[in-house]
Amino acid sequence: MNPVVRVGIIGGGLMGREVASAFGRWFALLDLPVRPELVGVCDVNPAVLEWFRQVPTVRHFDTDHRALLARGDIDVVYVAVPHHLHEAIYADVLAAGKDLFAEKPFGIDLAAARRIRDLGAKSGRFVRVSSEFPFLPGAQRAFQLARSGALGRLIEVRSAFLHSSDLDPKKPINWKRQNRFCGEAGVMNDLGLHVAHLPLRLGWKPESLFAQLQKIYPQRPDGRGGMAACDTWDNATLHGTATIGGEPVPLKLEMKRLAPTETNTWIFEALGTDHGVRFSTKEPKTLWRFRRDQEQWWEKTDLGFATPFKTITGGIFEPGFPDILQQMWAAFLLERAGLLGDRFGCATPDEAVAHHELWAAALASHREQRVCRVG
Ligand SMILES: NC(=O)c1ccc[n+]([C@@H]2O[C@H](COP(=O)([O-])OP(=O)(O)OC[C@H]3O[C@@H](n4cnc5c(N)ncnc54)[C@H](O)[C@@H]3O)[C@@H](O)[C@H]2O)c1
Repeated sequence: MNPVVRVGIIGGGLMGREVASAFGRWFALLDLPVRPELVGVCDVNPAVLEWFRQVPTVRHFDTDHRALLARGDIDVVYVAVPHHLHEAIYADVLAAGKDLFAEKPFGIDLAAARRIRDLGAKSGRFVRVSSEFPFLPGAQRAFQLARSGALGRLIEVRSAFLHSSDLDPKKPINWKRQNRFCGEAGVMNDLGLHVAHLPLRLGWKPESLFAQLQKIYPQRPDGRGGMAACDTWDNATLHGTATIGGEPVPLKLEMKRLAPTETNTWIFEALGTDHGVRFSTKEPKTLWRFRRDQEQWWEKTDLGFATPFKTITGGIFEPGFPDILQQMWAAFLLERAGLLGDRFGCATPDEAVAHHELWAAALASHREQRVCRVG
């Protein structure tokens, strides 16, 4: 096996740069038999490409993604572009014979996600979807506890991802706040895979749900002195019911851009009759576990830097977003090489389709003001 995987990035914005940075300190990972090398970047905006000139391994700077895809020295392509472009560019990556690390939501809507999933399966290429929060140590432990069956009969589940920067009405509009670029599912397209990934991996998929969707600021500054329509859903609260252990269990999924005081808060909580687990990025190294004996206890453990893939970082330190992005890439590259074993893998195309099924049901539920079936 060649330990070096040559990667190209399409879309060098916020996420394209984060990925370049994760590769740039790959030596922080210990004993990993694969190493990504960023060799090419494509962005329609030439100014965006300039930042990548400081990355010594990058030798291709393209403004048309087809030029990047025609290059023979690229094995894997990571695509981080606005949602309305996902389907066409993902299809081009697969047609070029490259493996694909796709950004969420994996197509602008459910129909697009299904088409991309089917194209990927037909192509035989390795395709996964970006969702990094499950790679936090606390999320991993919560997942393992939930999967073990130790919780007892499940009482309720909450999974949430909360932002607050949109509370500022003066924040200028961008593509994520416009349906034609972000998709009709709005905040669910934007934040939803982060919320749905662990429940889906656990097999906890709501069969029906009732959705409360909110548009809170209908307009935002357009950055040119005027105002522009902001037509995406800002906040979504989905009250679902999943059959878990043969019983109906309430499962609440929350995705919010206007959640006062929350910067980038990811929360997963599952409560059972015997045990419970709660993890939030508000306390990035801390796991809360509920236990019942003669009394009932919430126990708090500091997990420190117990990431799934070992690093040079001291065990007492706190993990953060750049760390879990790197961990997610380690999982992607190991799984692609057939070396992941029983460790947690990245979101699959089927999981991405399943999460779009939830948002399609949520849109119908809100429109018709009733509980809707999923899928
Ligand atoms: N995994 C995460 O935590 C996370 C976080 C933020 C965004 N995202 C996802 O990443 C993707 C990109 O989001 P972002 O925040 O990086 O957006 P961004 O606006 O910062 O960057 C997008 C880039 O794509 C470029 N672009 C547009 N059309 C292009 C084309 N045809 N070819 C090449 N480049 C093109 C733009 O010029 C821009 O530089 C979206 O799917 C988004 O949902 C994921």
